[in-house]
Parts: sequence; structure tokens; C-alpha cells
Amino acid sequence: MTIVAIAKDPLSELRRNLRPGGCLQGADLPARNRTDWSFLPPANPLAVLRPATTDEVVQIMRHCHQNTIAVTPQGGMTGLCGGARPLDGGVALSLERMTGIEALDPDGMTMTVLAGTPLETIQTAAAAAGLFFPLDLGARGSCAIGGNLSTNAGGNRVIRYGMTRELVLGIEVVLPDGTLLPMLNRMIKNNAGYDLKQLFLGSEGTLGVITRVVLRLFPQPGCTSAALCIVRDFTAVLSVLATSRRRLGPLLSAFEVMWADYWHQATERAKVRAPVAMGDGSHAILIEMQGLDEAIDGARFESLLEHLLAEGLVKDGVVAQSLGDIAAFWATRDAAAEFAKPAVIGPHISFDVGLPMTRMDDFAAQAKAALLHQIGCHSVYYGHVGDGNLHVVAWLPGADPQPFADASRIVYGIVGEMEGTVSAEHGIGTLKKPYLPLSRSPAEIALMRQIKAALDPKWLMNPTKIFD
Ligand code: FAD
Ligand code: LAC
Ligand code: ZN
Repeated sequence: MTIVAIAKDPLSELRRNLRPGGCLQGADLPARNRTDWSFLPPANPLAVLRPATTDEVVQIMRHCHQNTIAVTPQGGMTGLCGGARPLDGGVALSLERMTGIEALDPDGMTMTVLAGTPLETIQTAAAAAGLFFPLDLGARGSCAIGGNLSTNAGGNRVIRYGMTRELVLGIEVVLPDGTLLPMLNRMIKNNAGYDLKQLFLGSEGTLGVITRVVLRLFPQPGCTSAALCIVRDFTAVLSVLATSRRRLGPLLSAFEVMWADYWHQATERAKVRAPVAMGDGSHAILIEMQGLDEAIDGARFESLLEHLLAEGLVKDGVVAQSLGDIAAFWATRDAAAEFAKPAVIGPHISFDVGLPMTRMDDFAAQAKAALLHQIGCHSVYYGHVGDGNLHVVAWLPGADPQPFADASRIVYGIVGEMEGTVSAEHGIGTLKKPYLPLSRSPAEIALMRQIKAALDPKWLMNPTKIFD
């Protein structure tokens, strides 16, 4: 008699327990769950699991723990460094069916949402209640709040409201072994022991699955003003920042800077309308103010612009006269989202370095020259300059793959000399793993590994991300 060993499908029992559509495999496995915006090639996971409830997440994590299967949580897949790309042979756990706003407390100014809820849905719901959720980034329509928390996303309004971490009061998490950790705190002040939620914010899905979130809301701004200014050099950028801070105080809600090379890509290649001409200017600055009263604060903003022009700090500038103008100004900044299109730049290498503010322009000049002369890469520069966070988009036309390692060596070499960080906001994922030691000491990385081992002793929770 011949005995034929039939390999047991490690997910068969789980598949039966999940709702229909909860486990997609083979030809049903969606392409979007195989990789993120990192330009890493698609992975081959065993399955995409799509729980509809926290209870299903608990079942999945318990099952994967018992059967030693690696799990990669997924939100909107807009991450830029491979964090949400699943492992070959592991499973992707997508939160895409866990969406919705569960509660909005206008007195406590909190909102409780499921982790798969798109950021834009949250912004809109807050506005409908006369409140405001300040987190904002170009991927707002696609990214999910669980992904925002797991990357501790930054974005456009950090200068006023802080990183995502500052906007979170509580979370519900499922640990790698399936243990449920309900930490849905709704109070700003709570010093009862360790603030465990902080462990999961910015840990890129390596410690647990975030399933629910309590967010902090703010009053809706009484008025919003915006200006686009063209300056002659980076010294002027810093003067405009200092003046805006002094004259607007806490009302300053965004200070985004686009170098001329970025501006040309945005307006000529991505074809976004230029509300003001760059001419022979060096940088465009988008200044936004969220005020209380149009009569008082609108005038305050106008007077800031008059002052900047009168002092010659700004070469040319326009102040938005309508919400449409404000949207048109932001479109120049959001054009970065179009760069991946083949008609604009196509595949490229994206950096989110942090630098001392005064070194940013030197950095841009040095990196641009080195990338071009050493490896033939073009590059453009823009970012959240008010937060010391600069983005570089570098590309070698026609190259597949793009020269990621060489470009990283050049960019991070300069970042290291200037005592910056390799990631100000996007995280490490897999792409930036070799460079983590440039920004964290051996002792810090050893402690990160100890924390991971304590929560995930079988090392199954999004392994190979951040560090090995
Ligand atoms: P994903 O890409 O799905 O996942 C990101 C990481 O979080 C992965 O490691 C994943 O495993 C983990 N994760 C996802 N959901 C969970 C969960 N529920 N529990 C545990 N772990 C989870 N980032 C900024 O910081 N600032 C910006 O200004 C910004 N602008 C962007 C503009 C564009 C056009 C694009 C494409 C990206 C931009 N990003 C920016 C990067 C990206 O949008 C953010 O990192 C975002 O927070 C990721 O959310 P996501 O839902 O897409 O996460
Ligand atoms: C941005 C992303 C790339 O700010 O972080 O456009
Ligand atoms: Zn950014």
C-alpha cells in the first residue's frame, strides 16, 4: 500500500470560521494587497485575510500564532517603505472591512473609529459635526487610520497639531498571540501606569494589530487663510518662517516649501495650475493660517503678507480669496502624489529625511549634485520645512529597478554628516532597514528587539520590518 502525504492547508480551519470573503487565496488574491507604494515587487502571501470584527482578528492572530504563520497588517497600502508588503508564505491581514465611525462625542471632543476607516472619511465626519480632525496628507483618500497610527504619520499640519501620536487618546489592539488589549481611553490626562498605547504607535505593525481608535478632535477653524509666496533664497524661507511664527503665533497651521525643481515637476509635468509664477525664484512657500474670526484674523494674515512683501522677504505672493483658491494652492503641494505616474516621473526613490532647519538647503544642493554626478539620478526637493522634514524624489530615467542602494548611500551619507534622521515620518519598513543604525544607537535597537521579543516571542508579527 502506498501512503500519499497530503499537505494540510494551514488556513482551512480558519477559512471556515471567517465570514464569506474573509480569506482570499490563489486567483482571488487582490494585487493591491501584494505590495505598497514602495515600488517593491509584489509578494506572494498565502492569503489575504479580511476580518470584519475584532473578534475575527483575535481568531486570526490566535490561529497564526498556533500554526506559526507570519502576519502583516494592512491599511490603505499607501506606505512608502514596504511595511505593509506581506511576506511570501505569510498572510496579509487587511483591515479594509473594519471601517466606520462608532461614536462621536462633541463635548469630550473625541471620535471612536474602526482601524480600517479612511482618513478622509474621518476628516469629513468631524467637519459634519462642526469639529476638526487635523491629520492631513496627500494619501488622505486611500490611507486608513490604523496605518496612520502604525506609521505615526506626520503630514501637513504637524507644525500646529503634532504628529499622529498627539492625536490619539486610546486604541484597541490584538497582540500576536490573540490576546485582546482594550485601551479605549477617552481622557487627555491618564497617568495610571505605563501609557502602553505608545508602543503601538509608529511600530509599523510589528507588535500587534490596531483594531479601534479613539481620536482627539479640535474646534473647527473659524476661518482659514492661505498664501503662496515665491522667495529668492533659503535664507528668505527661514525669515518668512520666523516672521509667520511671530505674527500668527499658534494660528500658523502649515508651512510647506517647494524647491524650484519640484515646482517645475508639479506644474509642467503633473500639470497642476501654478497660482503664482516661480520666475527666477528659488522656493515656493505655502503658508496656511487657521484663525477664529475672519474680520480679525483674515486682516492679520493680509498684514503678514503685506509686511513680507514690503520687507522684500517675498519676491511675489498671492493670498487666497476663496476656498477654491486654497484648494488650488494645496494642489501644487499634493502634486507629489502624481509623481509615480509614468507620464510624470514614474518609478522613483522617495526619501523623508529630517534635518536641522538651517542645513536643509545645503543638503538639497549637495544631494542634488552628488546624485547627478555620481549615479546620474535626477532629484527634486520639497517638504514640511516648518517641521525640519525634507522629501527627496530621486530617479534614474528608464532604470528598472531604480538604484535604491546607491541613492540611499549618497543621501544618508549627507544626512549623517548633518546629524539628521533617515526617517522623519514614513518609517523604516523593509526599505530603510539597513539605515536604521544611522539614526538609532545599538543600545536603542537592542531595546526595540527586547520589546518585540516580549510581545511577540515567536517573531511572527510583521517580521523582517524595521529590524531583523
Ligand atoms: P499601510 O501602507 O497599509 O501600512 C503602513 C504600516 O502600518 C505597515 O507597516 C503596516 O503593517 C502597518 N499597519 C497598517 N494598518 C495597521 C493596523 N491596523 N495595525 C497595525 N499595523 C498596521 N506619510 C506621512 O507621514 N506624511 C505625509 O505627508 C505622507 N504623504 C503621503 C502622500 C502620498 C501620495 C502617499 C502615497 C503616501 C504618503 N505618506 C505620508 C505615507 C503613507 O500615506 C502614510 O505612511 C500612511 O500613514 C500609511 O497609511 P496606510 O493605511 O496606507 O498604511
Ligand atoms: C508628502 C509625502 C511623500 O509629504 O510624505 O508628500
Ligand atoms: Zn511628507
